Amino acid sequence: MRSMDVVFRRDELRSERVAGRACTVIDVLRAGTSVARAFDACAKEVRLFREVDEARREREKFKLPAVLAGERAGLKVHGFDAGNSPSEFTRSLVGGKTVFLTTTNGTAALADCASSEFVAFAALVNATAVAKALSARSESIVIVCAGTEGSYSAEDTLCAGIIASRILSDVGPGQLSLGDGARIALAYAAENMRDPEGVVAGGAHGKVLASLGLRKDLAGCALLDALGVVPVLKRDPLRLVLDV
Ligand code: MLT
Repeated sequence: MRSMDVVFRRDELRSERVAGRACTVIDVLRAGTSVARAFDACAKEVRLFREVDEARREREKFKLPAVLAGERAGLKVHGFDAGNSPSEFTRSLVGGKTVFLTTTNGTAALADCASSEFVAFAALVNATAVAKALSARSESIVIVCAGTEGSYSAEDTLCAGIIASRILSDVGPGQLSLGDGARIALAYAAENMRDPEGVVAGGAHGKVLASLGLRKDLAGCALLDALGVVPVLKRDPLRLVLDV
């Protein structure tokens, strides 16, 4: 029988847990939301980098229209075209272009899942669209929360539970065996899904972003199912493209 489980922290991720599975990596604050916004604004692809210098170097070599974006400690990297606020990824900035992106947790978690059969990048804004893409696959499912600096994150856990509950509704009763992580995320989502903005603003990373003057990002990251895009991971080079 197919199984479904949730991994709450990147540190708990082992390659054998995702190999041969269909995965989604969740980063509500903010990379998953920013990438969904970028594709909704017609970005061509999003190339992913663990390191700032590597992103800068590859962007310099690239001859086509491109945008260099990302954060460290939540703030735009010096000299980059954009930081990691979803509202920056407008059609006029990214439409038709390749985005070169480096973020602290989200892009690294995607790179950690590269051995999986299928990886979609999710946030609250595209939770149901990603759930539908996973329901349509035949592999067992692993939902990976990017978390914050190696720790749990309430907003990623909420999104994991919402995606798990949508998948359960799509595939029907008795079709998936649930790991304990999935059961915990489902219970958290059942309790909190009526107040995504409260969960996003009340978590540790939401408070850090607010203290950096980025409170305006929080409401945008809490807009459940605002977008229908499903960014999926491709390798060589590591990048996200739209699932069509
Ligand atoms: C990340 O990937 O670490 C996050 O998106 C951090 C942020 O809020 O920019």
